[in-house]
Amino acid sequence: MGQSESSPAATEKSTTIESSTTNPKSSTQTKTPSVKAKPYESKDQIIHSSIQPRHTQELKPEDILSIHEYHEIAKRKLPKMVYDYYRSGADDMTTLHDNISSYKKFKLRPRFLLKDVSQVQTKTSLLRGRGGNIDFPIMIAPTAMHRMANFEMGEKATCMASEKMGTIFCLSSLATTSLEQICHHVMESKGMKLEGEVTSPENQEKLKHHFKHWYQLYILKDRKFTEDLVRRVETFGYKALVLTVDAPKLGNRESDHHKFVY
Ligand SMILES: Cc1cc2nc3c(=O)[nH]c(=O)nc-3n(C[C@H](O)[C@H](O)[C@H](O)COP(=O)(O)O)c2cc1C
Repeated sequence: MGQSESSPAATEKSTTIESSTTNPKSSTQTKTPSVKAKPYESKDQIIHSSIQPRHTQELKPEDILSIHEYHEIAKRKLPKMVYDYYRSGADDMTTLHDNISSYKKFKLRPRFLLKDVSQVQTKTSLLRGRGGNIDFPIMIAPTAMHRMANFEMGEKATCMASEKMGTIFCLSSLATTSLEQICHHVMESKGMKLEGEVTSPENQEKLKHHFKHWYQLYILKDRKFTEDLVRRVETFGYKALVLTVDAPKLGNRESDHHKFVY
């Protein structure tokens, strides 16, 4: 399953994002670009659309305004092989393109003339309440191998970010942090360390009320392994299983074939 059971001790990293390349011209610039951004190669253009990101060289996470700026930072910081894995899709990336363009079809219809909007709330519940409650209607979809981007924290960092934002993280079956490690990490961060057997009534009660995340599952040919995995997911308090049914065969991701070309 590609899961690593051995994670080094979790240590919070400095939050300042620094460039991995030294560019004396832009290192003195912060948010206002005075040089033209490099044109993107054609496949990246699909993702960036027409928005010209700011220079992100010295942006701190709290200053980042858009997904485009995250993308720019990732492009500069990550090894090419890792960046290509995260940003690409299969073949001509038609579905990736469709996914992005379909969000543009959504329009927000203001209703302020008809309603009192001095108090608004974005909270919602999932699966008729049984999937949990979230502070705003966005969850974190399952994606594989976060420790390629952040070796120390990986999926723990993503999960803690979702906790901070009051939403739900769906852990991938191809995560590089085990489902048990994620659960222990979240519970400890809330001062609710699971003592002794995780199946004890006290621990199960804590998990029922204080662990809200979901788990993504592939149904593997080894049904016994799949069943045992589901039991572990259930024991560690994951609130929903997200079945991925569209991966009987891996996609032809062209950039992965070129992974050693720089
Ligand atoms: C780098 C990457 C890794 C992914 N890994 C998984 C995975 O391990 N399991 C899974 O079910 N889906 C995985 N997905 C699919 C996403 O969960 C999601 O369905 C897909 O990205 C479409 O949503 P989007 O348009 O919001 O990106 C992955 C997607 C990306 C881009």
